[in-house]
Amino acid sequence: MVDTPNSHGLNKAFGNEDAPMPLFKAWLEEAEITEINDANAFALATVDFTGQPSVRMLLLKGMNENGFVFYTNMNSHKGDDLKGNQRASICFHWKSLQRQVRISGSVSQVSDREADAYFETRDYDSQIGAWASLQSSTMEKRGDFNERLFDFKSKYPKGSTVPRPDHWSGWILLPNEVEFWLSAPARLHERLIYKAQADGAWDQYLLYP
Ligand SMILES: Cc1cc2nc3c(=O)[nH]c(=O)nc-3n(C[C@H](O)[C@H](O)[C@H](O)COP(=O)(O)O)c2cc1C
Repeated sequence: MVDTPNSHGLNKAFGNEDAPMPLFKAWLEEAEITEINDANAFALATVDFTGQPSVRMLLLKGMNENGFVFYTNMNSHKGDDLKGNQRASICFHWKSLQRQVRISGSVSQVSDREADAYFETRDYDSQIGAWASLQSSTMEKRGDFNERLFDFKSKYPKGSTVPRPDHWSGWILLPNEVEFWLSAPARLHERLIYKAQADGAWDQYLLYP
C-alpha cells in the first residue's frame, strides 16, 4: 500500500483535520497503545509574577472540543502561578512514536461539579492524599505528612464518602496554538501548527524543522 501524504505533503499521520482536537485525539489514542505507560503525561509550563517560568509533569484527565483538563492542588506552586497568570503551555512527547505536541493558551478553572465528579473516581488513598498533602509547601519531616494522612483517614474512614477539598480542583487549558511534530530522518522533521482565529476557525501553517 502506498503511504499517501496529507494535503500539505506531510506524513499521512498528520491527517487532514480542520481543527487540532481530532488530530490530538488520534495521536493520543495511538500513544496509549505504543507507550509503556502514562501516554497522557505532559509537561506544564507556567510563569510566576516575576516572569520566572516553571515546568513540571502532569497527567491529562480529560479533553473536549474546548480544551485539556488536569487536576491539582490549587495552592501549589503551579496553582499560585495559574491564579496570577492564566497563560500556560503544555507539551506531550511520545518516544515510541517520535512525536511531540505543544499547546499554548490560557486556563480557567473547571466547574465544582466537574471536579467533584472526577474526584469521586479517584481511589480512597488518592482522595486522602489530596486532603493531607500541602502540595509544594515545605515539610519539616516526612512524619508530619504521615500524621496528616493518619488524621484524615480517621476523619474520613475507608468506605465513607470523602468530599473533595476546596483546594483541589481542575484547570482546563483552552488552546490558541497547537503544534504537531513528527520526527524524520536527518532531523528533517515535519511540523504542522494550528492557530485559532477570532471566529473560532483554525488556520494551519507548516514550520521549518
Ligand atoms: C508522570 C507524572 C505525572 C504527574 N501528574 C500530576 C498531576 O496530574 N497532578 C499534580 O498535581 N501533580 C502531578 N505530578 C507531580 C508534579 O510533577 C509536581 O511535582 C507537583 O504537582 C507539584 O508541582 P508544583 O510545585 O509546580 O505545583 C506528576 C508527576 C509526574 C512525574
